[in-house]
Amino acid sequence: MSRQGTVTTSEEAEEYVHRLTDPGGSKVAWAVCHGDGPVGLVCIAVDEQNRNGWFSYWMTEAVRGRGWTTRAAATVSDWALDHAGLERLELGRRVNNPASGAVARAAGFRKEGTERGKFLITGERVDVDTYGRLRTHPRWQSSAAAARLRSGDRRRYRTATA
Ligand SMILES: CC(C)(COP(=O)(O)OP(=O)(O)OC[C@H]1O[C@@H](n2cnc3c(N)ncnc32)[C@H](O)[C@@H]1OP(=O)(O)O)[C@@H](O)C(=O)NCCC(=O)NCCS
Repeated sequence: MSRQGTVTTSEEAEEYVHRLTDPGGSKVAWAVCHGDGPVGLVCIAVDEQNRNGWFSYWMTEAVRGRGWTTRAAATVSDWALDHAGLERLELGRRVNNPASGAVARAAGFRKEGTERGKFLITGERVDVDTYGRLRTHPRWQSSAAAARLRSGDRRRYRTATA
């Protein structure tokens, strides 16, 4: 999360939102809302020239594990490829962040490779797995993860597949 920038004050929060919503910028962002406000984010940084989008997401700790990020990532990536003119979406996740990989795969992304020692994090170089999803890939709705999400009952799905 530190790579999102520091957000500890109202001013920093406004600056963060401004970066995401600036009409002159390349980013298209959606908030995942619950109760009184946003709890998560899915964002695409658009590379218009190549019709690519760099995909990212986060969810606040208190509501992780509910499948919301997966559902949001799948929905937004479907929209980007079906309705926004993008032909390729890509993302990178540190290899020591398995939850992010699970979200990417469930949202229809495929692993394309590993960039060795890509990030320097607290003095250590960390490998990053790269994932891509193309317009020509099958829709995520055919996946088991989609079936689980459509059922709206993660616990029942887990029991059924145990
Ligand atoms: C990655 C992140 C967005 C996941 O959010 P989430 O709301 O928990 O995601 P979901 O509930 O939709 O799905 C999480 C998946 O990760 C899996 N998961 C969680 N922790 C895991 C772990 N330690 N090892 C393996 N899988 C794990 C869950 O089982 C689930 O997969 P499943 O649906 O197949 O069971 C959240 O942890 C986060 O915001 N992390 C910090 C920011 C970040 O890393 N963003 C991604 C940058 S690439």
